[in-house]
Amino acid sequence: MSIKTAVLNGVATIEIARPEKKNALTVAMYQAMADALVAATADAAVRAVLITGQPGIFTSGNDIEDFMSRPPGQGSDAADSPVFRFMRALLDCDKPVVAAVTGAAIGIGTTMLLHCDFVYVSDEARLAMPFVSLGLVPEFASSLLVPQLMGHARAAEKLLLGDPFTPEQAVEFGLANAVLPAGEVVNHARRVAERFNALPPGAVREAKQLLRAPQRDAVLNTIRTEGERFAARLRSPEAMEAFQAFFQKRKPDFSKF
Ligand code: COA
Repeated sequence: MSIKTAVLNGVATIEIARPEKKNALTVAMYQAMADALVAATADAAVRAVLITGQPGIFTSGNDIEDFMSRPPGQGSDAADSPVFRFMRALLDCDKPVVAAVTGAAIGIGTTMLLHCDFVYVSDEARLAMPFVSLGLVPEFASSLLVPQLMGHARAAEKLLLGDPFTPEQAVEFGLANAVLPAGEVVNHARRVAERFNALPPGAVREAKQLLRAPQRDAVLNTIRTEGERFAARLRSPEAMEAFQAFFQKRKPDFSKF
């Protein structure tokens, strides 16, 4: 199992642990993360959730081999796919979710942060959403939320060109709370999560719901629209060329499209 979970001192920790593949997320890992989030939401002993990775890598995003061999379904099947279950569980988690971005956060590694409540980033991390470079489109409501955060012009750099950005920029854009030395980021995030042990859980839950409520319908609708296009793009010749190029360790050639 490449997802480690534990509940300790009021904090449910979800640790992505597949360092040999740069923490790329497989169908089974999405499933495990979704289950852990649902369990944490239901467990009265849990006051906050911590999502973390490995030293030097948070996650390199969706497993590209899975994209090729087991793409999420289209149409009505899509909602049942593990990646959608994970997205929905994160959206529906009514407890504070704290992310410790221990290193590179690519693709869903960055877009999941849009749905966390507190984000602490290692000073060695890089963030990127290279969906278009892979022949894909933005996901997880990033096409809605990223322009809201940083304005269209900067969002276009990140979402159309796929330009990476620094932890300092993530803070400047309002995507993250703070940059921390690599060796301190997990402990700092855990301390923030543990502060909820001293706060009234009902008020925390309602306040979090209120903070998210104005955007909730738009976020869900955008995820649905993006998801349909994303699933279709996964089957496109452009995406196939990008995925094959990744595994052949060469530059993709889009000149023929
Ligand atoms: N899916 C599947 N395998 C992946 C992966 C992914 N998203 N990311 C990394 N891996 C694998 C590599 O294929 C390689 O496997 P190998 O040892 O069998 O050849 C191994 O993990 C190490 O990756 P490598 O690229 O050699 O590490 P690096 O330190 O040079 O670079 C990254 C790290 C994260 C910058 C780079 O791996 C990367 O860009 N990954 C893809 C990111 C991406 O496009 N994600 C999808 C977003 S939608």
